[in-house]
Amino acid sequence: MAEVFEITITPHGKVFEAAAGETVLAGALGAGLNFPYGCNNGTCGLCAARVVAGTVTQVVHQDFVFDGVRKRAGYALMCCSSAASDVAIEIGEARSARDLPHVQLMVKLMRVTTVAPEVLEVKLRCPRATVMRYLSGQYVVLTLGDVSASVPIASCPCEGGEISVHVDAKLRPRLAGALSAAPRAARVQIAGPEGEFCLHESTTLECPAVLMIAEDIGIASVQGLLGQLVNVDYAGPVRVFWHARAGMNRYAANACRALADALDDGVFTFIEAPIDPSTAINAFGSGRDIAVYLAASADAIKVDIAGVRALGVCAQRIFSSANDEGISV
Ligand code: FES
Repeated sequence: MAEVFEITITPHGKVFEAAAGETVLAGALGAGLNFPYGCNNGTCGLCAARVVAGTVTQVVHQDFVFDGVRKRAGYALMCCSSAASDVAIEIGEARSARDLPHVQLMVKLMRVTTVAPEVLEVKLRCPRATVMRYLSGQYVVLTLGDVSASVPIASCPCEGGEISVHVDAKLRPRLAGALSAAPRAARVQIAGPEGEFCLHESTTLECPAVLMIAEDIGIASVQGLLGQLVNVDYAGPVRVFWHARAGMNRYAANACRALADALDDGVFTFIEAPIDPSTAINAFGSGRDIAVYLAASADAIKVDIAGVRALGVCAQRIFSSANDEGISV
């Protein structure tokens, strides 16, 4: 198993882990940190950080060249460097999803897979020089020909220029039809990232437990958040409930169950009927201080938020994709 090193970001002291051989940027993005980057392949220089303690080694070829001053100051590209010891770095991190640049990109359609009777997984590849920065849980507006719709991102930002989205064919029949009929390498436009549904730092720092409730393809967002909890070694109990309509065939259940199993105390449950928030919160004994993430259709979320607040969960700790128009309908 690869050795794992601690990366400390100065001056605020946030810490995350990266395995030997893994780029520091990939480790940071997997942990949900908003590191700056542009190309993820050593071309643009946007991911430059000053290494103030420890050693990094270059593991990926880079075309970008530092000037003498930055070279002497210890700068390195985080998309091309891997930790060779515990390391401290200085880098300008965006503070929230709102700080991420909104971009419009023409990307290549790589693959469309029917992962469940009414769900498509669509793999897209960004151009070499530019990738879209996003956080797990966000979504993009995808345009193919004259069809345009918002769809949740299902990949991890650490995957660089490869972006996967999920399309609910029942809600988005025109888009699903156009994608299924499109040839490989067709040009597709994506605009984003959109929305602010993402793992909040207050959750990992302050909340003793996390509840996630997903409905239908809301599970794509929850899967990303679960991956981040795993990456930051979240130690508190995490309970995930997923209710999907008949025909969706539990397509993401195995991946989510594996992520929950990777947590110290995580449980994933597929449920046949819409979730009653009181049942979920009672699993913790009390709603106090827990963080609640809801990724569901707009109507279901309205019901859930009311129910969750009535159970004593603080409004600042309820995060809902209902605020993110696109995921909902
Ligand atoms: S050089 Fe472009 S992201 Fe690292």
